[in-house]
Amino acid sequence: PLGNGFVPVDTEHLTIAAGGIGQTPFVAVIREALGLRRYGVPHREVRHRPERITVCYGARTAALLAGVDWFALPGVELRLATNDGSRGTRGFVTTLLEGLIAEPTPPTWIDCCGPEPMMAAVAELALQHQIPARVSLETPMACGIGACFSCVARIRQPDGSWDYRRTCVEGPVFDAADVVFHE
Ligand code: FES
Repeated sequence: PLGNGFVPVDTEHLTIAAGGIGQTPFVAVIREALGLRRYGVPHREVRHRPERITVCYGARTAALLAGVDWFALPGVELRLATNDGSRGTRGFVTTLLEGLIAEPTPPTWIDCCGPEPMMAAVAELALQHQIPARVSLETPMACGIGACFSCVARIRQPDGSWDYRRTCVEGPVFDAADVVFHE
């Protein structure tokens, strides 16, 4: 019941980077961006719809790609990758993202959720190309209400140091550039 979410952003080319079951939140994100559904209490306004939405979704193998049909929405382009090449491009979500970034209209915003190494790689790519990005962390949570500190993540502070932040109440969505994935 607590924490933040992927609140709508003003951007031209919204790109979703999802790995494994990390695609789950993005159906709602896309429906809201397209004006098909409204969320929040009270319902929030989406003032600016992206001109383009691209979903880059990957899994180890085709059988692990879940809910692919959920993204069959007008105005949404779906690009798939599997590590073994059993569906879509052989490679990783970052393989898809690198291709997209090299195109004439690269992503202007990246929202990401998936396994931590994948999110770290997406965050690095976004930083490298100066594309704003958010990640939704999936740290294990014991209480879910901000009391136990089992869910902490290392988040950069304005002075350049990092401190622990509770994913359940201060996340799970953080600016990708603020998350300290590695020492
Ligand atoms: Fe207990 Fe976040 S899960 S503080």
